[in-house]
Amino acid sequence: MIDPRQVHDTLRQHQLTDGFPFVMDLEKSQGSWIYDARSGKRYLDFFTCFASWPIGYNHPGTLEEKFRRDIELTGRNKPANSDLYTTHMAEFVHAFATKVTPSQFPYHFWVSGGALAVENALKVAFDWKAQKVGPQNCNDGNDLVILHFKAAFHGRSGYTMSLTNTVADKVALFPKFQWPRVHNPGIVFDLDGNIANDIEAEEARACQDIEAAFECYAGRIAAIILEPMQGEGGDVHFRPEFFQKLRQYADQHEALLIYDEVQTGFFGSGKPWLWQTKGVEPDVVAFGKKTQVCGLYAGKRVDEVPNNVFHRSSRINSTWGGNLVDMVRCHKFIDIILEEKLDQNIAARGEQMVQGLRAIAREKGGMENVRGVGSLVAFTLDSAETRDAMIQAMMERELLVLASGPKAIRFRLPLVVTADEVDTALERTSEALSTLVGA
Ligand SMILES: Cc1ncc(COP(=O)(O)O)c(C=O)c1O
Repeated sequence: MIDPRQVHDTLRQHQLTDGFPFVMDLEKSQGSWIYDARSGKRYLDFFTCFASWPIGYNHPGTLEEKFRRDIELTGRNKPANSDLYTTHMAEFVHAFATKVTPSQFPYHFWVSGGALAVENALKVAFDWKAQKVGPQNCNDGNDLVILHFKAAFHGRSGYTMSLTNTVADKVALFPKFQWPRVHNPGIVFDLDGNIANDIEAEEARACQDIEAAFECYAGRIAAIILEPMQGEGGDVHFRPEFFQKLRQYADQHEALLIYDEVQTGFFGSGKPWLWQTKGVEPDVVAFGKKTQVCGLYAGKRVDEVPNNVFHRSSRINSTWGGNLVDMVRCHKFIDIILEEKLDQNIAARGEQMVQGLRAIAREKGGMENVRGVGSLVAFTLDSAETRDAMIQAMMERELLVLASGPKAIRFRLPLVVTADEVDTALERTSEALSTLVGA
């Protein structure tokens, strides 16, 4: 057994080791707290493994006997779920499809990893569009493109790298497709939560870009893809009115509307899916992170092309078809979240966090555009340097957060977080801010 103090040195001999300086103790980490096996310190986890860990560490529900047996059994054996079915898989799929996916979306596909979830959503759209226009009219699919947004993050795999455009380093020097990229009309909030920028002008600019793209790539845009809130790009929120516009463009130009809910989905907003807070239905949703097993669900519009990927073998597939341990774990998470009403909890705790941050910003200054819903909360600082210093000051106060966009900080709260823990996070944030603004 490696001594916790040797973990970084051991890893460093074999791989890049640029993560947190502490070592997570998997047994002693509990709820919203990560226990450092090196120092014995406890970190308040508002990072939640890049928004992927919803119910806190060692949730009592995960100690239940049947779940432990199922995890052990599926851990010992890894079936290729794409072709080899189990009762565990059927129980999971049924729970997900009836309790998490809205009923108007009959089709599912499972895969490991968020980028691959998005990539397969794009394949659903390419296949659909190519059959719609005819292979002879799109150079056998090769001429098809995806309309996407500035500040988008959709992953780092082959197709998704052509969409991702946040930190240049993440995609630089790799070959990419030149697909149409349009303005992202984000809302800026004042400290009372009102829209502070000229959002209609922002949206008009985006619509101008979109219309130009549909003209330039006539008959070739297979899908519009958007994160319902851009996470990595800076926690950028959009108005429902803008989603309505996107729906209209997608319908008018025979493109699919895809939402990337890898970061925002699975109760992170208090609803199963963030798009439900906007009220505008997509055609396809890609998900991952909190769901453990990643994938997509699709609505009936794909059936405008009868021989689509959900009816034809092998058009989208992978060896493992997701991961059965992840499916069993996701099933348990669904039960826990719904039984304990963690969706309602996180909606309330998110509001507490936003209001608390606005109060700090009013009192001390230095922080602006406080925004968020449920577990997805953020604020902006005056520069990248201040932001980086703030993250360091928060870390020194044992509060874990994430950078977001050019100069923002995002919190990704665990759904189990308590009101006291939110207060603690606010106190630590306030203290950290004081070291920067001197208030
Ligand atoms: C919106 C969004 N899409 C896709 C991805 C890619 O997911 P993964 O890192 O699991 O491939 C991420 C990851 O941060 C994401 O935030």
